[in-house]
Amino acid sequence: MTTEHPTALPAAKPNGEAMAESTSPAVPFRRVIKSYVLRAGRTGPGQARAYDQFGPKYLLNYQAESLDVPAAFGRSAPLIMEIGFGMGGATAHIAQVRPEDNFICCEVHEPGVGSLLKLIGEGGIENIRIFRHDAVEVLDHMLGEQSLDGVHIFFPDPWHKSRHHKRRLIQGPFVNRLARHIKPGGYLHLATDWEPYAEQMHTVLSAETMLVNTATEPGPHGCAPKPEYRPLTKFENRGIKLGHGVWDLVYRRV
Ligand SMILES: C[S@@+](CC[C@H](N)C(=O)[O-])C[C@H]1O[C@@H](n2cnc3c(N)ncnc32)[C@H](O)[C@@H]1O
Repeated sequence: MTTEHPTALPAAKPNGEAMAESTSPAVPFRRVIKSYVLRAGRTGPGQARAYDQFGPKYLLNYQAESLDVPAAFGRSAPLIMEIGFGMGGATAHIAQVRPEDNFICCEVHEPGVGSLLKLIGEGGIENIRIFRHDAVEVLDHMLGEQSLDGVHIFFPDPWHKSRHHKRRLIQGPFVNRLARHIKPGGYLHLATDWEPYAEQMHTVLSAETMLVNTATEPGPHGCAPKPEYRPLTKFENRGIKLGHGVWDLVYRRV
């Protein structure tokens, strides 16, 4: 994954992977592997209305410069970053049960952003701000080291096929960057329902010396009991009834 400004990147193919188009030997070739593919999906009329109505207040613009967080939220409070909120159901719930925290939430899927804006409007939620942008770039360019009190990454794309594993978000170098952005005492909470990914998460988190497992009696793959604030999704409930597993891994920055 890159740490450079996106405008410095070669044009992206529709699948989000940088093009290997460098013809001049003077221009170094660099391939950027994204953790997502921009999916087609219709933004419904309710979501479109929510963009118009709530976008100006709740959407933040990505730019490669440090974010003034208190100005963005209109207050100073502990800051939690969520990466890849999907349709935002869990995000809206957590923001409501934790009104004392600020949530900076990234998602690249346009209808998902519309959906969360709609939930914000319906719930009168004040403590969320959204980037419709690659969270990796937001982290690298807009948030300082030791600026986060927590990070949530729930059900990141599992990229099942081995030739796609390189796209998985939870890999050593990225977790190291995340850890550096978390304050000492802050936490990183991952959840997955794909066991091989839980195994990979456990391996990567255990190898990161800045992080320690919060689970006193870790379950399989180092998992912890599900923290109360994370709601069970409909999909997850269905899986659990079918006997499928879900692994929550919660680590603390030392
Ligand atoms: C499998 S979905 C899970 C969504 C949600 N967390 C849930 O539990 O339902 C993963 C989401 O992460 C988003 N995503 C993946 N990589 C991302 C990135 N680098 N920045 C922002 N969003 C990303 C995808 O667009 C997708 O919506």
